[in-house]
Amino acid sequence: MRIAIASDHGGFDQKGPIVAYLQGLGHTVTDFGPSDAASVDYPDYADPVARAVSCGDADRGILICGTGIGMALVADKVEGVRAAPIQSVNFAHLFRQHNNGNVLCLSGRFVSLEDNEAIIDEFLATEFEGGRHVARVEKIMREDDPTYTGVKR
Ligand code: RB5
Repeated sequence: MRIAIASDHGGFDQKGPIVAYLQGLGHTVTDFGPSDAASVDYPDYADPVARAVSCGDADRGILICGTGIGMALVADKVEGVRAAPIQSVNFAHLFRQHNNGNVLCLSGRFVSLEDNEAIIDEFLATEFEGGRHVARVEKIMREDDPTYTGVKR
Protein backbone atom coordinates (compact mmCIF):
# COMPACT_ATOMS: atom_id res chain seq x y z
CA MET A 1 0.00 0.00 0.00
CA ARG A 2 1.16 3.60 -0.61
CA ILE A 3 1.02 5.39 2.73
CA ALA A 4 1.52 9.12 3.36
CA ILE A 5 2.63 10.03 6.88
CA ALA A 6 3.41 13.15 8.91
CA SER A 7 3.47 14.33 12.49
CA ASP A 8 3.96 17.45 14.53
CA HIS A 9 6.34 17.72 17.50
CA GLY A 10 3.79 15.86 19.65
CA GLY A 11 4.01 12.82 17.40
CA PHE A 12 7.55 13.15 16.11
CA ASP A 13 9.14 10.55 18.42
CA GLN A 14 6.80 7.87 17.10
CA LYS A 15 6.93 8.87 13.43
CA GLY A 16 10.36 7.38 12.67
CA PRO A 17 9.62 4.02 14.29
CA ILE A 18 6.21 3.90 12.57
CA VAL A 19 7.77 4.65 9.16
CA ALA A 20 10.26 1.81 9.76
CA TYR A 21 7.43 -0.47 10.93
CA LEU A 22 5.39 0.23 7.79
CA GLN A 23 8.38 -0.25 5.50
CA GLY A 24 9.13 -3.51 7.28
CA LEU A 25 5.62 -4.65 6.36
CA GLY A 26 6.39 -3.88 2.71
CA HIS A 27 4.46 -0.63 2.33
CA THR A 28 5.68 2.34 0.29
CA VAL A 29 5.86 5.28 2.69
CA THR A 30 6.05 8.97 1.82
CA ASP A 31 7.14 11.01 4.84
CA PHE A 32 5.86 14.59 4.75
CA GLY A 33 7.88 15.56 7.82
CA PRO A 34 8.84 17.19 10.01
CA SER A 35 12.51 16.23 10.04
CA ASP A 36 13.17 17.17 13.68
CA ALA A 37 11.28 17.60 16.95
CA ALA A 38 11.04 21.40 16.83
CA SER A 39 7.60 22.85 17.54
CA VAL A 40 5.49 23.15 14.39
CA ASP A 41 1.84 23.82 13.52
CA TYR A 42 0.04 20.53 12.89
CA PRO A 43 -2.17 21.93 10.06
CA ASP A 44 0.98 22.39 7.95
CA TYR A 45 1.66 18.64 8.18
CA ALA A 46 -1.89 17.28 8.08
CA ASP A 47 -2.60 19.15 4.85
CA PRO A 48 -0.09 17.49 2.47
CA VAL A 49 -0.94 14.01 3.75
CA ALA A 50 -4.67 14.61 3.32
CA ARG A 51 -4.12 16.03 -0.16
CA ALA A 52 -1.96 13.05 -1.15
CA VAL A 53 -4.85 10.74 -0.23
CA SER A 54 -7.42 13.03 -1.85
CA CYS A 55 -5.62 13.13 -5.22
CA GLY A 56 -4.83 9.41 -5.21
CA ASP A 57 -1.07 9.68 -4.76
CA ALA A 58 -1.48 7.71 -1.52
CA ASP A 59 -3.89 4.90 -0.64
CA ARG A 60 -4.01 5.83 3.05
CA GLY A 61 -2.72 8.52 5.37
CA ILE A 62 -1.35 8.35 8.90
CA LEU A 63 -0.96 11.47 11.04
CA ILE A 64 0.48 11.68 14.55
CA CYS A 65 0.17 14.64 16.89
CA GLY A 66 -0.22 14.92 20.64
CA THR A 67 -3.81 13.70 20.67
CA GLY A 68 -4.61 12.98 17.00
CA ILE A 69 -7.48 15.45 17.27
CA GLY A 70 -5.95 18.49 15.56
CA MET A 71 -4.63 16.40 12.69
CA ALA A 72 -8.09 14.86 12.17
CA LEU A 73 -9.82 18.24 12.21
CA VAL A 74 -7.57 19.48 9.42
CA ALA A 75 -7.42 16.34 7.29
CA ASP A 76 -11.18 15.78 7.33
CA LYS A 77 -11.74 19.16 5.66
CA VAL A 78 -9.89 18.02 2.54
CA GLU A 79 -12.14 16.68 -0.22
CA GLY A 80 -12.42 12.92 -0.30
CA VAL A 81 -10.86 12.43 3.12
CA ARG A 82 -12.43 10.61 6.05
CA ALA A 83 -10.13 11.19 9.02
CA ALA A 84 -10.58 10.45 12.72
CA PRO A 85 -8.52 10.33 15.90
CA ILE A 86 -8.26 6.66 16.87
CA GLN A 87 -6.98 5.33 20.20
CA SER A 88 -7.99 1.66 20.20
CA VAL A 89 -7.89 -1.37 17.92
CA ASN A 90 -11.69 -1.68 18.14
CA PHE A 91 -12.17 1.86 16.91
CA ALA A 92 -9.63 1.30 14.10
CA HIS A 93 -11.63 -1.76 13.03
CA LEU A 94 -14.94 0.11 12.98
CA PHE A 95 -13.38 3.19 11.37
CA ARG A 96 -12.55 1.00 8.38
CA GLN A 97 -15.53 -1.37 8.47
CA HIS A 98 -18.28 1.24 8.90
CA ASN A 99 -16.77 4.60 7.90
CA ASN A 100 -14.31 3.53 5.18
CA GLY A 101 -11.78 5.81 6.89
CA ASN A 102 -8.72 6.68 4.86
CA VAL A 103 -6.65 8.89 7.18
CA LEU A 104 -5.75 7.49 10.61
CA CYS A 105 -4.89 10.10 13.23
CA LEU A 106 -2.85 8.84 16.18
CA SER A 107 -1.88 10.19 19.58
CA GLY A 108 1.86 10.31 20.17
CA ARG A 109 1.46 11.50 23.76
CA PHE A 110 -1.25 9.29 25.24
CA VAL A 111 -0.94 6.03 23.28
CA SER A 112 2.21 3.88 23.27
CA LEU A 113 4.11 3.03 20.09
CA GLU A 114 3.23 -0.63 20.56
CA ASP A 115 -0.50 0.16 20.83
CA ASN A 116 -0.33 2.52 17.85
CA GLU A 117 1.30 -0.23 15.77
CA ALA A 118 -1.59 -2.55 16.65
CA ILE A 119 -4.04 0.20 15.66
CA ILE A 120 -2.18 0.64 12.35
CA ASP A 121 -2.30 -3.12 11.71
CA GLU A 122 -6.09 -3.07 12.12
CA PHE A 123 -6.48 0.09 10.02
CA LEU A 124 -4.53 -1.44 7.14
CA ALA A 125 -6.03 -4.93 7.32
CA THR A 126 -9.75 -4.18 7.71
CA GLU A 127 -11.96 -3.86 4.63
CA PHE A 128 -14.95 -1.54 4.34
CA GLU A 129 -18.03 -3.65 4.99
CA GLY A 130 -20.21 -1.94 2.36
CA GLY A 131 -23.90 -2.85 2.54
CA ARG A 132 -25.88 -0.49 4.75
CA HIS A 133 -22.78 1.63 5.27
CA VAL A 134 -22.45 2.64 1.60
CA ALA A 135 -25.28 5.19 1.65
CA ARG A 136 -24.08 6.55 5.01
CA VAL A 137 -20.56 7.11 3.73
CA GLU A 138 -22.01 8.75 0.60
CA LYS A 139 -23.93 11.07 2.92
CA ILE A 140 -20.70 11.94 4.75
CA MET A 141 -19.12 12.86 1.46
CA ARG A 142 -21.96 15.10 0.24
CA GLU A 143 -20.59 17.60 2.78
CA ASP A 144 -17.64 18.01 0.39
CA ASP A 145 -19.97 19.50 -2.22
CA PRO A 146 -20.09 23.32 -1.86
CA THR A 147 -23.51 23.35 -3.56
CA TYR A 148 -25.01 20.94 -1.01
CA THR A 149 -27.38 22.92 1.20
CA GLY A 150 -27.81 20.44 4.05
CA VAL A 151 -30.52 18.25 5.53
CA LYS A 152 -33.78 20.14 6.10
CA ARG A 153 -35.86 19.27 9.16
C1 RB5 B 1 0.61 20.50 20.17
O1 RB5 B 1 0.95 21.02 21.41
C2 RB5 B 1 -0.74 19.83 20.23
O2 RB5 B 1 -1.74 20.78 20.30
C3 RB5 B 1 -0.92 18.92 19.01
O3 RB5 B 1 0.09 17.97 18.98
C4 RB5 B 1 -2.22 18.16 18.94
O4 RB5 B 1 -2.43 17.41 20.10
C5 RB5 B 1 -3.40 18.95 18.55
O5 RB5 B 1 -4.52 18.46 18.43
